[in-house]
Amino acid sequence: MQKVFELNHPLVQHHLTHLRSKETAPHIFRAQIRRLAILLAAEATRDLPLKPEVIETPLVEMEGVVLDVRIGLVPILRAGLGMTDALLDLLPAAEVWHLGFYRDEETLQPVEYYQKFSSNPPDLVFVLDPMLATGGSACAGIQRVKDWGAGEIRMLSIIAAPEGIATVREEHPDVKIYVCKIDEELNDDAYILPGLGDAGDRIFNTLG
Ligand code: PRP
Ligand code: URA
Repeated sequence: MQKVFELNHPLVQHHLTHLRSKETAPHIFRAQIRRLAILLAAEATRDLPLKPEVIETPLVEMEGVVLDVRIGLVPILRAGLGMTDALLDLLPAAEVWHLGFYRDEETLQPVEYYQKFSSNPPDLVFVLDPMLATGGSACAGIQRVKDWGAGEIRMLSIIAAPEGIATVREEHPDVKIYVCKIDEELNDDAYILPGLGDAGDRIFNTLG
């Protein structure tokens, strides 16, 4: 079964170009992340289960369908927050639970600083983080969601490095990965090339 989905849509390519440019101001960067997250969500929800629901239009009664799955969104702080509203627009009944990780600059290992989960995990969790670089943060986040007991987990990222995809596939082969683009490589500081720089700093205008 296919586990890695890379979007190859003209709109994705167009919006990625404006997202990546260093000339893009934070408010435009946020809008671009949001647009790309919507396109990503459309792909990542393509096979969601439906159940019948009878309604009345102004003219007749009819049987429609509605989603039949309890969905949780788990943005990884900080940058995952930039994708959350886009997902909520499409999935207004979704629950949002939070995980906080930052990547230690020396060791490149994820450091956990926040977790807010309930005692009753959703059926399906979308873990949100625009950047999948070494894969350390994604793997740690996915492991937390597994420990929580969620039924199925899907990882949604805007840009990934091949190294990060390989790491997540190795540690969590059951998790489907949805990305707008798999870039070329990591540089010596484990930043994605060509990438877009530090996503959290660009979303929250904290480049200094
Ligand atoms: C970024 C990004 C991921 C992580 C990816 O977060 O949002 O969480 O790095 O790198 P990895 O795949 O090598 O773990 P960062 O640690 O910069 O924190 P921030 O979102 O607070 O800026
Ligand atoms: N985190 C980012 O925000 N960007 C990268 O390129 C790598 C990790």
